[in-house]
Amino acid sequence: MPARQRRVAELINVDKLVISKMTPRDLDEVLEIERQSYPTPWSRNAFHSELTANLYAHYFTARIDGMLVGYFGMWVFFDEAHITNIAVNPKFRRQGIGEQMLRFAFRKARELGATKMTLEVRFSNYGAQNLYRKLGFQDRGIRKGYYSDTNEDAIIMWKDDLSPDSPQEDEVKWMM
Ligand SMILES: CC(C)(COP(=O)(O)OP(=O)(O)OC[C@H]1O[C@@H](n2cnc3c(N)ncnc32)[C@H](O)[C@@H]1OP(=O)(O)O)[C@@H](O)C(=O)NCCC(=O)NCCS
Repeated sequence: MPARQRRVAELINVDKLVISKMTPRDLDEVLEIERQSYPTPWSRNAFHSELTANLYAHYFTARIDGMLVGYFGMWVFFDEAHITNIAVNPKFRRQGIGEQMLRFAFRKARELGATKMTLEVRFSNYGAQNLYRKLGFQDRGIRKGYYSDTNEDAIIMWKDDLSPDSPQEDEVKWMM
């Protein structure tokens, strides 16, 4: 269904999405979305150490007209990429931003040598599970009680092929 026919909090032009490397300067805005998105948000220190001390970590912001609308991060070890965090400002959800960020993640992970991608998702997080399944992730297992805040299980998902759906996909200008 086109975004304009769906109930979204605020319509935005997703064609103007710009994805860039996250830096510590982005963290005030990132933390605002993080707190609105998770029952147990990551701390500033957690993000900061990912950005500055983890050689395997790659974090990105998504902005429209300069405004932060989402972000995501992944670890890439050899041929595997692991999504660690992905969130979209609640005001701008269901307009394709999460999907665009993940498609960018596939491309970036490929550039870094990965051939497959994994992530964990809360058992009750149907919206995110739908997004991942739409983009080709499959359920491959359960981690019992993985989320210590609620003792909820995680579904482990994998995507085995990070190739673009179409040759045009790689031509989208995501980076500034
Ligand atoms: C999950 C999240 C990143 C999705 O971002 P988004 O920009 O709203 O997602 P998109 O608009 O790109 O959605 C793409 C597809 O995902 C699925 N989807 C996304 N949100 C959904 C929802 N709430 N309910 C059902 N399906 C949903 C749909 O299949 C959608 O395709 P469609 O629009 O053609 O129906 C966002 O909801 C979010 O930030 N949630 C809080 C943080 C979180 O849970 N992160 C995931 C941790 S594992």
